[in-house]
Amino acid sequence: MSDYSVKTVPTKAYQDQRPGTSGLRKRVPVFKQEHYTENFVQSILSSIPGGPEGTTLVVGGDGRYYSEEVTQKIIQLAAGNGVKKLVIARDIIFSTPAISHEIRARKATGGILLTASHNPGGPNADFGIKYNMDNGGPAPESVTDAIYESSKTITEYKLVELPQVDLSKLGETKAGPLAVEVIDAVTPYVAFLKTIFDFDAIKAYVHSSDVSVLFDGLSGVTGPYARAIFIDELGLDQSAVQNCDPSPDFNGGHPDPNLTYAHSLVEVVEKNKITFGAASDGDGDRNMIYGAGAFVTPSDSVAIIADWAECIPYFKEGGVKGLARSMPTSTALDRVAKAKGIEHFEVPTGWKFFGNLMDAGRLSICGEESFGTGSDHIREKDGLWAVVAWLNILAAAQKKDIKGIKGVLHDHYSKYGRTFFSRYDYEEVESDAANKVIQELESAFKADGFVGSSLSATSSSTSFEVAETGNFTYTDPIDHSVSKNQGLYVTFVDGSRFVVRLSGTGSQGATIRLYVEKYSSDSGEYDADTQEGLKPLIEVALKLSKLVEHTGRKEPTVIT
Ligand code: G6P
Ligand code: ZN
Repeated sequence: MSDYSVKTVPTKAYQDQRPGTSGLRKRVPVFKQEHYTENFVQSILSSIPGGPEGTTLVVGGDGRYYSEEVTQKIIQLAAGNGVKKLVIARDIIFSTPAISHEIRARKATGGILLTASHNPGGPNADFGIKYNMDNGGPAPESVTDAIYESSKTITEYKLVELPQVDLSKLGETKAGPLAVEVIDAVTPYVAFLKTIFDFDAIKAYVHSSDVSVLFDGLSGVTGPYARAIFIDELGLDQSAVQNCDPSPDFNGGHPDPNLTYAHSLVEVVEKNKITFGAASDGDGDRNMIYGAGAFVTPSDSVAIIADWAECIPYFKEGGVKGLARSMPTSTALDRVAKAKGIEHFEVPTGWKFFGNLMDAGRLSICGEESFGTGSDHIREKDGLWAVVAWLNILAAAQKKDIKGIKGVLHDHYSKYGRTFFSRYDYEEVESDAANKVIQELESAFKADGFVGSSLSATSSSTSFEVAETGNFTYTDPIDHSVSKNQGLYVTFVDGSRFVVRLSGTGSQGATIRLYVEKYSSDSGEYDADTQEGLKPLIEVALKLSKLVEHTGRKEPTVIT
């Protein structure tokens, strides 16, 4: 006899639960509305291919504010929907890449990730819920569309009323009909990284006399993982890590590893002349590599990892099957692919687009300009993987007398030339104004004679001849699904380009992203300042889109 009963709760549908680039992201007060979270979780459960009955789901996140309440709701809804088992991280501290690994390692049905990634947390900041599939990767559009459709028409959800489950205690318990296993989410992931990289070489490298290391967890989820890697495994001192205690509001910070928000890292690296600095975001999938005086732009990072892949045991043994980048990411990676004769792909923004290629055995290493780098070891980008990959590369480079981050960058530029890249973000712009910017560009593209015309920058008397324009459309080579409207681009005859698109990850208003890129094979320019070099292109892009006029924004919110 069972001592529980499934309760059917009548609800009213919300119309704003469309998952974005990476799940549903809203302010906490939005998620706290009556039935709001329950509706979305029910819609996820109802949209699991094959249904929720008998499934095993992995649950965790970056530990941000409201995670505990949502996890308890998930437990009750899962019980009400016949889910067999939930695998939950102790204290819900589970990085996105570690969840991806756990889903794959256990052959689970999927996972529910409670994170808004690099967005701030707290009672009035962001929360997020995302569903990942059995391959460990974000749900494809067919599933997120089903979730959205369900959320718009939902009339009831099912739960079992249960006492709170203690998520601080390891081990398996019963929650009504449901098995709940609370796991140590750090150890298996770190053990997995040890099978990928040459930890002996890395250990020797980080203990060399001229090398110093600093990892900044930005008070996000990676702290415990970083301690296990840098202190327990590599034997570094406590001073090699900072901000490594996960905090529900990221200590009031913005846990995004870029030059603007990761100033805690940049300051200490510069002050103490740290040779290798790195940071990761709230949920652990992004990374920034930064040594004293040497910043690695993410577009270069993926190209360099691809170029040095041979020194990483995982690739040495398994080979590099293919390379890929998102469309706005610079073309530095393409040059490595060409030189090595490896197939390469350009996909829309969003990690989910890499998954099919990986599952089909055609992609090993990929990256995005948005500080995401990773490989087919899992189906998410992986911050700590990228950090350890760089340490593995630096260890191999040291043996060739190539010194530190700067040495590796220069070596790369001398082989392939340098691709200057920058992104300007205009955050929380009014949606109407953002749409006007897009329309402005679309109509410019349509004008007779635009291709072949010259756009000039008054600040430097430079002009650029338009070679091609378009709105990026992607046809997935594996399932042939088509994704349209993925970003407007203008390519110039000299190979430079700019891209404009609206972010799919914001929680309020619209964010306009402007990406600019310029290639140089003139060694005299390799040390040039990125912003200086890109100024004329940025001017041209702003003029053509009338961005300042339409949005009233003279300066971007963030430059990366
Ligand atoms: C998340 C996604 C990435 C994406 C980034 C920016 O981190 O996982 O794949 O590149 O957001 O997306 P957005 O739509 O805001 O430009
Ligand atoms: Zn993230």
